[in-house]
Amino acid sequence: MKLNDAQISEFHDRGYVFLPEVFSADEVGVLTAELEGIFCQDRPENFREKNGKSVRTTFAAHTFNDAFERLGRHPRLVEPVMQLLGGPVYMHQFKINAKAAFDGDVWQWHQDFGTWARDDLMPEPRAMNIAVFLDDVTEFNGPLMFIPGSHKDGKLEAGHDLETTSYPLWTLDKETVARLVDAGGLVAPKGKAGSVLLFHCNLVHCSPANLSPWSRTIVYLSLCHVDNHIRQFKRPEWIAHRDFTAIDVLPDDCLLTLARERLTPA
Ligand code: SIN
Ligand code: MN
Repeated sequence: MKLNDAQISEFHDRGYVFLPEVFSADEVGVLTAELEGIFCQDRPENFREKNGKSVRTTFAAHTFNDAFERLGRHPRLVEPVMQLLGGPVYMHQFKINAKAAFDGDVWQWHQDFGTWARDDLMPEPRAMNIAVFLDDVTEFNGPLMFIPGSHKDGKLEAGHDLETTSYPLWTLDKETVARLVDAGGLVAPKGKAGSVLLFHCNLVHCSPANLSPWSRTIVYLSLCHVDNHIRQFKRPEWIAHRDFTAIDVLPDDCLLTLARERLTPA
């Protein structure tokens, strides 16, 4: 899948592009059918909220689950990023953010490149997220909030927040966020399950807690140009990957063929 010229200029101008319903309900179903079986596992990749129960993030599910492995090589996700980054990409990080009903905690104001540069020594902001909604995202269940255009300010000063949530993050101070919002405003892209959100790694974003009875599961592929691979291996391999092999994309119907293979007796 390729972005058109209008989408490319929107990305450069605003720092993100929202693509409604890129994946069908059947394709989303192939992925959501796996979630319970992943979240109930006792493994380090399942990072829990402060309550110690609900999964906050599952890292690297593409390395241990067939359906997510296919999503990590899906042409509708990988090709637009290759197009914007101008070449082959590898998977820097892969995460399923559950943002569980009632229990899903905040993600503080941050830039992803802030963490990738400081913790992993990623040289340049030649990487980005492409996210897939596995639930409908509404104003109630903790949507992402973006400051349009904030990616143009480059990597901003940040502090390492080890306390607010269970997950350490390089976060921005209130004055910086207020200044950027004053200039760019705020948006919270919402839409049906299967929608895709692509955003620049310097775009300033956060998400509020989910106090609603509806979960807000979003999968993030953080893709990096192969020449721009990380130089420091401080974080576990399943958080910041060390395999810099270019992703080889699968056929467009790879999720549906997996569903069919499962129905066909061996
Ligand atoms: C993130 O910014 O890395 C996650 C935010 C979210 O899933 O709400
Ligand atoms: Mn982020």
